[in-house]
Amino acid sequence: MESSQLICCQQLEHDLEELLGRIPHDRLFVLTDSHTHALCLPRLQQLKACAGAYPIVIEAGDDHKTIGALHRVWHALSSNGATRHSLLINLGGGMVTDLGGFAAATFKRGIAFVNIPTTLLAMVDAAVGGKTGINLDGLKNEVGAFAPAAAVLIDPTFLHTLDSGGFYSGYAEMLKHGLISDEAHWAELLTFDTDHIDTDRLSRLVTRSIAVKTAIVAQDPLEKGVRKALNLGHTIGHAFESLALYTGRPVLHGYAVAWGLACELYLSHTLAGFPANQLQQTVRFIRTHYGELPFDCNRYETLYELMKHDKKNSGGVINFTLLAGVGDICLNQTADKQAIFEAFDFYRECN
Ligand code: GLY
Repeated sequence: MESSQLICCQQLEHDLEELLGRIPHDRLFVLTDSHTHALCLPRLQQLKACAGAYPIVIEAGDDHKTIGALHRVWHALSSNGATRHSLLINLGGGMVTDLGGFAAATFKRGIAFVNIPTTLLAMVDAAVGGKTGINLDGLKNEVGAFAPAAAVLIDPTFLHTLDSGGFYSGYAEMLKHGLISDEAHWAELLTFDTDHIDTDRLSRLVTRSIAVKTAIVAQDPLEKGVRKALNLGHTIGHAFESLALYTGRPVLHGYAVAWGLACELYLSHTLAGFPANQLQQTVRFIRTHYGELPFDCNRYETLYELMKHDKKNSGGVINFTLLAGVGDICLNQTADKQAIFEAFDFYRECN
């Protein structure tokens, strides 16, 4: 799989204009959701290179990452003259870059696309690395394809308008990148003043975080090996996310990942020797900034069942990425039910 060109913008309008001059295309399409259509699209519409670009709008929210919305994008492309040589710009959060990327990957067997992520979560994770897809029957990202964007443009000005939930949701993935990379980056993330955000410093942390992800994806784009490190926190995190949805209290993805990280670091400690002091420091940060998902031991079996359906498993065995230390990755680990339940006990008790 080819890799995407990553552009850390000095000025989005200038960098995009320049990029569009370099990517040959006959027609240009811009996919937004209802939020980015109103808030971000006007910036692109002023550009000469975007004159005549055809806007496609889908409803905002992960519950709209569906075959219905995908069909509307395909239809808009098809009925407005898109050819194999057309270009799609995905302007939005992870829902737009995932669905738009999949629409582009499949339309006429694949057209080029560019991602412009507008949320922190999309900048550091969803828009980078070539995973595209949609949800199916309540299962997240159940249908999709690996397809790299021709380019990903990171515009730090979007960091100025983050709300608290959007910030912490993205920051959980950054914390994960810190844990799987090195102690200096991990420590920098834990000491960053998240109550008074210095956007220049955040922008540098974002660049570092994306570099962690792209280095891993470059080694293993199709997730046969080391890319599984990016699943740290997600095996239990996805179960928390599903439980929250199922009990009528949906949570942002990154919050579930943060809680999943707390549990999986505990498993890392008990099964792989992750140091107790680093476990405590990380869990304290998570507890302080992410609170907790309240559940009692009657939910343990449900969570365990949800984990058994994770698409990363094979042969019914739950697959974990664990750490023996910060940056010391142990892939393809297993944990028995008792160890997992103990991690839930730890999560509920650590205050
Ligand atoms: N979000 C994890 C990955 O891209 O592999």
